[in-house]
Amino acid sequence: MDNKPLPDDFYKKTPAERLSLLQKHFNLSEEECALLRNTGALELETANRMIENVVGAAHLPFGIATFFLINGREVPIPMTLEEPSVVAGASYSAKLARLGGGFTASADEPVMIGQIQLVKVPEPKKAEQAILKAKAKLLEFANSKDPLLVKLGGGARGLEVRTLPTPSGPILVVHILVNVLDAMGANAVNTMAEAISPELEKLSGGKARLRIISNLAVHRLARAKAIWKKEALAKEPFSGEEVVQAVIEAFEFADADPFRACTNNKGIMNGIDSVVIATGNDWRAVEAGAHAYAALDGRYKPLARYHKNKNGDLVGEIELPIAVGTIGGSIKTNPLAQISLKLLGVKSAQELAMILASVGLAQNFAALRALATEGIQRGHMRLHARNIAVMAGAKGEQIDKIAAQLAEEKAVRMDRAKELLEELQKGRKKSD
Ligand code: MEV
Repeated sequence: MDNKPLPDDFYKKTPAERLSLLQKHFNLSEEECALLRNTGALELETANRMIENVVGAAHLPFGIATFFLINGREVPIPMTLEEPSVVAGASYSAKLARLGGGFTASADEPVMIGQIQLVKVPEPKKAEQAILKAKAKLLEFANSKDPLLVKLGGGARGLEVRTLPTPSGPILVVHILVNVLDAMGANAVNTMAEAISPELEKLSGGKARLRIISNLAVHRLARAKAIWKKEALAKEPFSGEEVVQAVIEAFEFADADPFRACTNNKGIMNGIDSVVIATGNDWRAVEAGAHAYAALDGRYKPLARYHKNKNGDLVGEIELPIAVGTIGGSIKTNPLAQISLKLLGVKSAQELAMILASVGLAQNFAALRALATEGIQRGHMRLHARNIAVMAGAKGEQIDKIAAQLAEEKAVRMDRAKELLEELQKGRKKSD
C-alpha cells in the first residue's frame, strides 16, 4: 500500500489511468478493478462526463413495485435501492388500495423558487418597494435568458421580497418564481437568479451574495390520497377495524412526536427516493424539500395523515414538495432513467410527481400497517435470511431451504446458517 496522496493531476487522467493509480496505491486486486470497470448500463464514457474523477460505476438493484392504480391508470413502479421489503411493501399497499379505487393524485404547476440574498442594503423597506416596482422589467430580463423555456410556456412568473434579521444585520431575500415545465429546474432557476442580481444590487443599493434555487419547493407540491377498505385490511389475528385503528394510532404517534415522525418520513422517502433514483433525478433535492416541508410550521410533522371515513375505512393523504424532471442532463444520459420513464408512461414532470406522492403514501401505509400489527421483522427476516444463507456459502436450492429454517427458528444468524449448510452438505454426501 502506497501512503502517498493521489497525484494533483488525478482529475486530468482517464478513468483507466485513475483506476490503475488506485490499484497501485490501495493494492486493489484484478478482480476488484474488474468490478469497478463493470459500469453496467452506464457507459464509462457517459459516467465520466456526469461527475469528476470517475473510476467506475456503482450498482443498486432495480425492482418493479406492482398493483399501482393511480388516477385510474395501471402504473408499474421502477425502484432503485438496496433495502429489502420496500418493493414488497409498496406493492402490498397498492394491492390493498385497489379495493378503494387505488390512488388519486394531483400536482401543482412546476414552479420553483430562486433565492437572491442581498446584504448591506441601506434602506431595506425602500429597497423592497423599488424591487417590487421593477418586477415586470426584472422578470422580462430573467426570461430573456431562457427563450426556449418561455416559448414552451414556462419562464419567470413572480417575484417576492422579504427582509430578514441576521446577526450581521438585515438581509433582503428576493424570490424569483419560475415555471420550469418538465425539468427539475435548478439550471434555469440558478441562471435567472444570477442574471437579475446586478439589477437587484442597483435597485437596493446592496450587494448580492447567494444566488441559488431553494429546494423547499412550496409552489410545487404533490398530493395523493387512498382509501383502504376495512375489509381489505383484516389479517389474522387482526380484524379490519383493528388495523384501521392501529394505523391511525401509529400516525398519531408520529404527529405527536418528532422522534417518531422522523422515522415515519424516512419510510415515506424509502419509496419516493427509490423512484427518484430510478428516473435519474436528484434525490437529495427531494429529500431536503420533504423534510423542510415537514417542519414548515415550526414543528417536524409526518408527511402523510390518516383518518377513518364514515364507512369505517382508512383514508390516507400525503402532501409534499416534489421537484423532479422528465427531461434534463442526468435523465437523458442515464439509459436506465429512460427505461424507467418509459415504464411509468409519464409525459410530464407533474405526472411523475403524482406517482411519487402515491408511492410515498403506499410506503408509509405498508410500514404503519406492519409496525402496528405483526411488526416489520417478520417480513424483513425472510429476505435477510436469504442474504445470510448466501453469505454462509449456500448455493441454488440450499438458499431457500436454509433461509426457511433460519426464519422458522427465528435465528437469522451466520453461525446457524453455517451449521445448517454443513448439515445439508453432510446429508447430501450420505445420500450420494
Ligand atoms: C425502515 O427503512 C422504514 C421504517 O422504519 C419506516 C417507519 O418506521 O415508518 C419501517
